[in-house]
Amino acid sequence: MILSIESSCDDSSIAITNIKTKELIYHKKISQELQHSSYGGVVPELAARLHIEALPKILEETKEFFPKLKAIAVTNAPGLSVTLMEGVTMAKALAISLDLPLIAVNHLKGHIYSLFIEKDEILPSTILLVSGGHTQIIEANSYTNMKIIATTLDDSFGESFDKVSKMMKLGYPGGPIIQEYALQGDENRFDFPIPLRQSPKIEFSYSGLKNAVRLEIEKIGELSHQDKADICASFQKTAVSHILQKVKKYFKSYVPKNFAIVGGASANIYLRTQIEELCNKNNTKLHLSQLKYCSDNAAMIGRVAIEQYKNNEFTKIEDIDIQTRIKAFK
Ligand code: KG4
Ligand code: ZN
Repeated sequence: MILSIESSCDDSSIAITNIKTKELIYHKKISQELQHSSYGGVVPELAARLHIEALPKILEETKEFFPKLKAIAVTNAPGLSVTLMEGVTMAKALAISLDLPLIAVNHLKGHIYSLFIEKDEILPSTILLVSGGHTQIIEANSYTNMKIIATTLDDSFGESFDKVSKMMKLGYPGGPIIQEYALQGDENRFDFPIPLRQSPKIEFSYSGLKNAVRLEIEKIGELSHQDKADICASFQKTAVSHILQKVKKYFKSYVPKNFAIVGGASANIYLRTQIEELCNKNNTKLHLSQLKYCSDNAAMIGRVAIEQYKNNEFTKIEDIDIQTRIKAFK
């Protein structure tokens, strides 16, 4: 079995995975959404302190599996440096005290492998990764051959939901809240500009849309419930239209057999529906992670770690580093 740890942002999570059967034996996650809610976003220092409390608490429940462990896996990049450090430090301590090898896992590969928890992988596939930190199109050919095709120039898709929610003081995380408000709103009331509409490049940007929403909010002044719902619906439609236009552009040059949406924001129903329609038109099979594995979790880290274990891809305890960003997969 492999014990895996995830602490790249505001979720403390540990999983135990069977290497041979891929079965998820144990999985627990303690989220910090409530504690960050009043700040309208994740406060790294507070997140780090909460991981210090949560991770040992979860670890305590996994002690019975210690004699069966073959490796310790941990997310080491990308993420917030102070929170990654908590997981990595715990992983190092466990590897030393239990005399086990260490596996450093890329968080983005984790999101991709959230599709394959307790399942065999279905690759090659083109992946749309949408989370609080990333908006990317990735061509995943195999576990060791992944290429980032497109990324965002500024904010990410999920982050723009968080920021628009913060502007209207609706709470954190903004994604599910905006989605809920949007259900009662008129998506055609505000004509927000679709980002990079004229650009032939396949890339993303959300700062312009975010500012357009800010200006509209300032223009209205005191917002009624209906104003908020209409802003949410119009914003969500534009944010998703931007992704859809760029994915359509991608499909023009290459129609993949498999397409998947992963990451916390892949829970967005509007996005799922629009992409599903596009995939159906192109005879592309759409894959989605189970909702419980869309947001950050250690089960997906454990699933990648199985592949790394089989490939003997271990990291020396003294060599493990943390990275806040990655430009390409190693
Ligand atoms: O993958 P994740 O848990 O953490 C990161 O790796 O960033 O993603 C969290 C992000 C947050 O920005 C949250 O607002 C967004 O995913 N999110 C959504 C939805 N549910 C979560 N965004 C849009 N629509 C949703 N339904
Ligand atoms: Zn994530």
